[in-house]
Amino acid sequence: MRVVSGIKPTGNLHLGNYLGAVKQWVTLQDDVVAQGGESMFFIADLHAPTEWIAPAELSSHTLEVAATMIAAGVDPAKSILFNQARVPAHSEMAWLLNTVARVGWLNRMTQFKDKAGKNREGASVGLYDYPVLMAADVLLYNATHVPVGEDQKQHLELARDIATKFNGDYGVDLFTLPAPLISKAAPRIMSLRDASAKMSKSNPSEQSVVKLIDSDDTIADKFRKAKTDPDLLPATVDELGDRAEARNLLTIYAALADSDVATVLGEYGGKGFGAFKPALADLAVAKLGPIRDEMVRLLDDRSAVTAVLRDGAEKARALAAPVLKRTQDAMGLQV
Ligand code: TYM
Repeated sequence: MRVVSGIKPTGNLHLGNYLGAVKQWVTLQDDVVAQGGESMFFIADLHAPTEWIAPAELSSHTLEVAATMIAAGVDPAKSILFNQARVPAHSEMAWLLNTVARVGWLNRMTQFKDKAGKNREGASVGLYDYPVLMAADVLLYNATHVPVGEDQKQHLELARDIATKFNGDYGVDLFTLPAPLISKAAPRIMSLRDASAKMSKSNPSEQSVVKLIDSDDTIADKFRKAKTDPDLLPATVDELGDRAEARNLLTIYAALADSDVATVLGEYGGKGFGAFKPALADLAVAKLGPIRDEMVRLLDDRSAVTAVLRDGAEKARALAAPVLKRTQDAMGLQV
């Protein structure tokens, strides 16, 4: 079992990143240790500049995201934690896979369409090619499982297509097909202001996104002001129907409490948001506050976080080298 996943350092982490990805990573790392495999979690700093980001911001977010991952429970003694830019094999592998990936496949990627919007001609080539680098990130380590939120599923299907085509074109059995592990509890956490949009680092409304760096008061305030409807909560999940805001807040509560929506409705069914939202705010502060405090403490000594990343990169380079070499050999490259 080889678990690999990453996170882009374009801002500090938010609740969607935590519930959809990092919380799963923390659970998985123990399963992996028990089974004698590896788990590798990285900061996808090479992916970040596909849309302009100031260099000082990128480097400080990289350390902040690393500290947040450690504070949330990613343990450098159990998992390999590194930043992508320190492992040049990611870029080299991406180029090799570029020769196999088809333009038609990339044209179907919905994230590119969303991000480029109407200005496709003005988007960077990196933004278009982003999913191939992502395929390199996982194929380079022969990842068996990739724990991500639902929004990354299409990219992982592309990674599987690229792996299959490479193996077929070169008549080798080189790449493992990575299986996406989509969080059951929180596949897609939505904005607190508009439950039709995903919670995301790029959302312009601060109120819509709970960040792991937010103060207790800010976290509580965002939940208290979250958009809801005027109705009481129902007794069962079926009766929730299309109440997207209610469903989102219940999903967040259940994921934070390691419970499920039916159980939460067992407690809050028949009550209004006036009772539910303060309880959710308290729960979120209780769960997220200690992560923030630990992150701030870790960032007191940035050199210690950097040392963890350097150590992780060394281990990652050692695992990447033989796979990159086999890929080059398969293609007839003399290196
Ligand atoms: P990124 O940085 O956008 O998000 C990191 C992880 O958080 C998940 N996520 C969410 N889950 C639930 N609800 C949400 N609202 C939400 N928003 C984000 C994402 O699905 C992801 O798991 N391309 C990736 C980074 C990456 C990567 C990789 C991931 C680069 N290479 C290789 C896995 C394997 C990204 O931009 O994630």
